[in-house]
Amino acid sequence: MSDKPVMTTSAGAPISDNQNSLTAGARGPVLMQDYQLIEKLAHQNRERIPERVVHAKGWGAFGTLTVTHDISRYTRAKLFGEIGKQTPLLARFSTVAGEQGAADAERDVRGFSLKFYTEEGNWDLVGNNTPVFFVRDPLKFPDFIHTQKRHPRTNLRSPTAAWDFWSLSPESLHQVTILMSDRGIPVSPRFMDGFGSHTFSFWNNDGERFWVKFHFKTQQGHKTLTNAEADAAIGKSRETYQEDLFGAIERQEFPRWRMCVQIMPELDADKTAYNPFDLTKVWPHGEYPLIDVGVLELNRNADNYFAEIEQAAFSPSNIVPGIGFSPDKMLQARIFAYADAHRYRLGTHYEALPVNAPKCPVHHYHKDGAMRFFRNDTGNPDAYYEPNSFGGPTQDPSVAEPPLRLSGDAARYNHRDGNDDYTQAGNLFRLLPDDQKQRLFQNIAASIGGVPQAIIDRQLAHFDKADPAYGAGVRKALGL
Ligand code: HEM
Repeated sequence: MSDKPVMTTSAGAPISDNQNSLTAGARGPVLMQDYQLIEKLAHQNRERIPERVVHAKGWGAFGTLTVTHDISRYTRAKLFGEIGKQTPLLARFSTVAGEQGAADAERDVRGFSLKFYTEEGNWDLVGNNTPVFFVRDPLKFPDFIHTQKRHPRTNLRSPTAAWDFWSLSPESLHQVTILMSDRGIPVSPRFMDGFGSHTFSFWNNDGERFWVKFHFKTQQGHKTLTNAEADAAIGKSRETYQEDLFGAIERQEFPRWRMCVQIMPELDADKTAYNPFDLTKVWPHGEYPLIDVGVLELNRNADNYFAEIEQAAFSPSNIVPGIGFSPDKMLQARIFAYADAHRYRLGTHYEALPVNAPKCPVHHYHKDGAMRFFRNDTGNPDAYYEPNSFGGPTQDPSVAEPPLRLSGDAARYNHRDGNDDYTQAGNLFRLLPDDQKQRLFQNIAASIGGVPQAIIDRQLAHFDKADPAYGAGVRKALGL
């Protein structure tokens, strides 16, 4: 008798032979009665689930947020309740366009998703490694993503589609400038910053609201790859991020980020020259300086990538008392889109999966459906609707968010009217040292070269408007 555990069917029955199928005679065909073979093949057929429609390639790990500074005057969120407080979390980083098997070191924006398992429920901050985004109206998000994915006929990525869309969408210029700069290919997630990107809100125990932006500053320093370095890296390994992040954590070199916030008093939103809820804009740090909050550390690899990273479901709709949304149109759409995606990709009760399950008590009245493997936890089987007379869970008015001030007539307002898409992109360009400017020109030329000239000309006009030296540099790199 071996001291290893006995292999069983998924129903728990011991298996006598996992080498030979059940056949009629040594040379004979397999019997339908071989349910062990059928179970094995059937399971294999179901090993894949749909990959994420965007951000399919990802790398993740678990860790903690440790609060180092008191921000309780802005938010009543308990995870920020006291200095020294630790909250467990899951982080998942990703590229946007590539499929699950894509190479890691590609030029792309990186996702920076965090799930904080707080005592008042999960707070998900589903951001990127850039503070801004390509579009400001969610109606344009699916169109934008189509330009990043494969062309329907060639089944290849299409620089023509990307630059056609960008040149017709001047609000993309700020993000395009970041993407084409050195920051467009970090060496690995350890060496990049993270941003909540949108404007969210904080509210405190007195019911006061503040607008807030979240920042995570890498403590490993910024390390990026040039196009040539990325080509060489991909030539050797398509999995450089997984190797780097997983390896560092296994070696106990735990990556860290400084968590900071920018805070804007509620009424300032009416005074800023830019719309503070526009996702294509940053808030100047001179006006709204970074305020330290804590340290985020990743210190544990997942034991099972599929169960804990692939099945992780992040959603901007997951907030906790003390944290709220803002009028940002993009954020509003994302509040819908993610939970909808998870119900399709993972199934109805995806939040009961161990990696998504809150670490605090959960009491809801959602009933049946796929993955209903958890018990009713209302304390009484008769309390399965609300209101009830059987001691079931009830609402708690003390966690009501203060009113979000909104006004305006319903209409489809042109989001480009009166919007300055050039000043902030130009400011970023002017900030870059000379060698970085040269690489920016080269990276753009490498990407846009070969695209129809009319599209190039339209895009050059945007660079010119941001800064004449920007357009001139790209023209020179293109040999124009
Ligand atoms: C993933 C929709 C804008 C960051 C996703 C997914 C969807 C989606 C459907 C796949 C979710 C899944 O299957 O798990 C949208 C829509 C947007 C939008 C409709 C705009 C209207 C943004 C913006 C950011 C962002 C502005 C960053 C600031 C991410 C990240 C992921 C993701 C990081 C991967 C989440 C993970 O790690 O699992 N998005 N997105 N998205 N999105 Fe967005």
